Amino acid sequence: MKRSQARVSLPKDLYFHPTFGEAEVEAVSEVIRSGRTTQFSSSKIEEFEKAFAEYVGAKEAVAVNSGTAALHTLLAACGVGPGDEVIVPAFTFIGTVGPVLQQGARPVFADIDPASFCMTAADAAKKITPRTKAIMPVDIFGHPADLDPLRELAKKHDIYFLEDGCQAHGSEYKGMKVGGLADATCYSFQESKSLATAEGGMITTNDPKLAALCREVRHQGETEWGQIDRLGYNYRMTALQAALGIVQLGKLDQAIQQRRKIAGIYEKALGDLKGLALPKEKPYAKSIFHVYSMLLPNELSPKRDAIVQALRRELVPAGIYYPNPLYTSPLFKDDPGPFNCPTTEDVTSRIFGLQTYQSMPLDIAEKIGIITRDILAQYL
Ligand SMILES: Cc1ncc(COP(=O)(O)O)c(C=O)c1O
Repeated sequence: MKRSQARVSLPKDLYFHPTFGEAEVEAVSEVIRSGRTTQFSSSKIEEFEKAFAEYVGAKEAVAVNSGTAALHTLLAACGVGPGDEVIVPAFTFIGTVGPVLQQGARPVFADIDPASFCMTAADAAKKITPRTKAIMPVDIFGHPADLDPLRELAKKHDIYFLEDGCQAHGSEYKGMKVGGLADATCYSFQESKSLATAEGGMITTNDPKLAALCREVRHQGETEWGQIDRLGYNYRMTALQAALGIVQLGKLDQAIQQRRKIAGIYEKALGDLKGLALPKEKPYAKSIFHVYSMLLPNELSPKRDAIVQALRRELVPAGIYYPNPLYTSPLFKDDPGPFNCPTTEDVTSRIFGLQTYQSMPLDIAEKIGIITRDILAQYL
């Protein structure tokens, strides 16, 4: 092999953990020592909710035990149920769409913008029917969807405007953090995220009534002891997760900065490869680059999987986010469609991405950039 590959190599066990340090160990230990581990006995959950709401600029926050639980809780609180449709992208993780099905409602897939990979208002508008109860864009890879036209569309049809911000902690839209810009926004704190509590999630909203409903759904639909107003679940966050979250929130800006620096390193390494479309922020957006996903030229789509395998052989943390439009999964075999998302189909055939974990040292990111460049140059 020519190059740099002779000189540059990556460690074998490259796995990027969340940035947990002594402060997290101490915070969790304190909870364990106290014996107060749940929302019934500890004030940690409320403390985390208040701090997170303040950080994103929302009035209310409701902590739950995963991003999927956040989305499910929110849809249930909005009264989404059988016979309803929710407009979602097909270019996302299944965690966005599973909760729609859990509520007995139908996901209707809208297409995405080819540069931001986020669902567009223009296509969502085409998918609206009298049964549409909500539209739910995803801030995919931490790049916010174009929220203003989506909000206008929801307002025009008097439906909920919900946001899956599970990858977008601290992402900005027109200079404002996402979190208070839709009727409600959901987050995930699973360990790959910029803010990690092992597993965990949050709903933020400016609507106190919706927040109160979410709190009911989070805890069995119970409003007071023995008073069950609606079907709910046990989606409660533990005090151990909340204690982790409080410390991690203090590190979030640093994590975002690190992810953006890593994205900058990749951009520098790959920027002049002809035909490769690198992620670019829209003028309205500040992305947190949850993943650095890019598009190969059309003619290389049949070789995409082989390219990713070649990168992985060199220990590059590369992956395909996301390999198929969700509606092609067996889960949707009984959905008659029609599924009209040509951009999603094109993007899923050509996309691949590099990890940007905040715990990744910058010199490792540089090595990843060099090796990726060398391998791609053999194809481009
Ligand atoms: C876009 C999106 N939605 C929903 C989820 C679900 O979150 P969780 O894994 O915390 O349940 C994730 C998690 O990765 C996600 O990336």
